[in-house]
Amino acid sequence: MRRFYQESWQGIPFTTFAYTHFFHLADAKFYAVFYEELFRRFQNWNDLPKAWRANKRKDARWLAKRLERIRTAKKEGEPVRVLSIGCGVGYMERVLLEEIPEGMDLYLNEPSTVGMKWMRRLIPSHRIFIGEPPDCLSPDIHYDMIYLSAMDYCIPQHQFDRMLAQLRHMLLPGGEIICLSASLLVEQSQVAGFVNFMKNCIRCLLHYSGIRRQQFWGWRRTREEYRETFRRSDLKNIEDGHLEDGFNTYWIRGE
Ligand SMILES: C[S@@+](CC[C@H](N)C(=O)[O-])C[C@H]1O[C@@H](n2cnc3c(N)ncnc32)[C@H](O)[C@@H]1O
Repeated sequence: MRRFYQESWQGIPFTTFAYTHFFHLADAKFYAVFYEELFRRFQNWNDLPKAWRANKRKDARWLAKRLERIRTAKKEGEPVRVLSIGCGVGYMERVLLEEIPEGMDLYLNEPSTVGMKWMRRLIPSHRIFIGEPPDCLSPDIHYDMIYLSAMDYCIPQHQFDRMLAQLRHMLLPGGEIICLSASLLVEQSQVAGFVNFMKNCIRCLLHYSGIRRQQFWGWRRTREEYRETFRRSDLKNIEDGHLEDGFNTYWIRGE
């Protein structure tokens, strides 16, 4: 695992709306203030950067294809049930609703209500879980698919292990958990680790001298660390690969 830092997201510099922390992870409040700023600048999903939308659309279509396969194996009229953990502004979820307009019960999760501004128009409030999973989820609802898209980076390892282990119990028979990673760490040799450590020392100096303030954004994980996390959470039939979505997004799934 390797820590990484960020100065902006979706073209919005963090220093314009928040105090950035070099050692503390961005928390629910940070994301809430970020989304308030994002909604001030962008009126709807189509205002978000084009390349980002194209990438997310491809990822959502890939998920939709898997969901279609699950749906054909179901009884007539029985919906597929899907949960998105850390759905953000819900762009991928909007695409999923376009791809599967009927026969899908889509549930959402975000740590605060703020990011749900656009999705509230499309999803009833009883299908939106606000808070940190798994604690904020209903233990009575089970899913065909639970996915985490570009959000595991902000979850500390012990919390990630616990979350996956508990989400596994919320799957319907044959259901799957899918993690799409936007933060894959490709190699982690000792030399690369040392170079990264030195870079972080310099980043820290620049941060505290006020020259270049950065926010501790989370962790990059290697493929082996993802696979090991899935195994530790007792997930079975683990598979992984990369998506042809322009960003070579890494995916891993288990049952
Ligand atoms: C980079 S965004 C990804 C949004 C969306 N899933 C996507 O792929 O575009 C990460 C999201 O994770 C959310 N998040 C941060 N910590 C979380 C937690 N502990 N549980 C659930 N979501 C969290 C943030 O609020 C943010 O919306």
